[in-house]
Amino acid sequence: MSHPAAEPTPAVFAPGLLAGQVALVTGGGTGIGLGISSLLAELGAHVVIASRKPQHLETALAEITGRGHRASVVQLDVRDPERVRAVVDEVAAEHGRIDLLVNNAAGNFYAPSATLSPNAWKAVVEIDLYGTFYCAQAVYPIMARQGGGRIVSTSMTLHYRGWPLMAHATAAKAGVDALTRTLAVEWAPQRIRVNAIAPGPIPTEGVRKAFTPPADSGVPDLFAAAEEKMAAYAQTSIPLGRWGTPRDIANMVAFLASPAGDWITGAIFVVDGGEWLAKNAG
Ligand code: HXC
Repeated sequence: MSHPAAEPTPAVFAPGLLAGQVALVTGGGTGIGLGISSLLAELGAHVVIASRKPQHLETALAEITGRGHRASVVQLDVRDPERVRAVVDEVAAEHGRIDLLVNNAAGNFYAPSATLSPNAWKAVVEIDLYGTFYCAQAVYPIMARQGGGRIVSTSMTLHYRGWPLMAHATAAKAGVDALTRTLAVEWAPQRIRVNAIAPGPIPTEGVRKAFTPPADSGVPDLFAAAEEKMAAYAQTSIPLGRWGTPRDIANMVAFLASPAGDWITGAIFVVDGGEWLAKNAG
């Protein structure tokens, strides 16, 4: 794809900025998660990539270690609180600490609320909201013991207004925002900074799948559009004129993980080229 989002972003952080840090990135093997894992590793962190799917883990590990950076992988479904705790404890035992948790794992799909099955509702809310809580709760004792840490969760902007066919995901992400603010205050005495990032449209494979609307829904399938149509959408609907990239989100995570994030907690950063504000205005 030749739109500007495909162009690499130049390095903006000091080499070795995160040296010595240990980061756990859920859903870190593909899409935005892989972008985050890669940048953290590039900046010197040891990144533990967690994913439900072993094939995602192998590819991501090869990509990061192949470039000479440090990473390891672990299979994890964030919906399983006991497994979450076991994995977090294993990581802490092996590395002695966990400086950063990135709650990136998410599940989404377009589906009409009137016929959404209980299990479909549960699948998304459990991954997006429960999983975020389980992971945050599991790292808490480790971060508290070591004198602090950072948690960055992935939110979205779709719940800032009504978003048909996304009741499960918008409800879950609204919960992630609330959780972010509450934990930020509750865990500030332990010096655990808790923030979230709300990414705008980033055409990864996962997002393309999640945002394929049912054929009879009347919702336009943005990502199925021809390349020139996608470029036109960026020009007309994204004020900064381009689609986002995983690196756009990763840069914000790196900033929050760095000393520049020392006095930031409870914040939800919209990183979307201005898209949701423009939609709101329209
Ligand atoms: C209606 C659906 C459905 C769909 C699944 N279900 N897909 N219902 N429409 N398109 C229902 C199933 O029928 C089932 O209900 C229930 O959901 C659980 O489905 P499973 O396949 O058994 O679940 P599981 O294997 O656990 O998979 C979870 C998942 C899946 C969420 C359904 O899509 C997934 O693993 N996604 C992970 C990747 C992902 O979605 N990434 C997108 C992130 S993008 P029944 O009743 O039949 O048992 C993102 C966008 C950001 O977050 C937005 C920026 C603009």
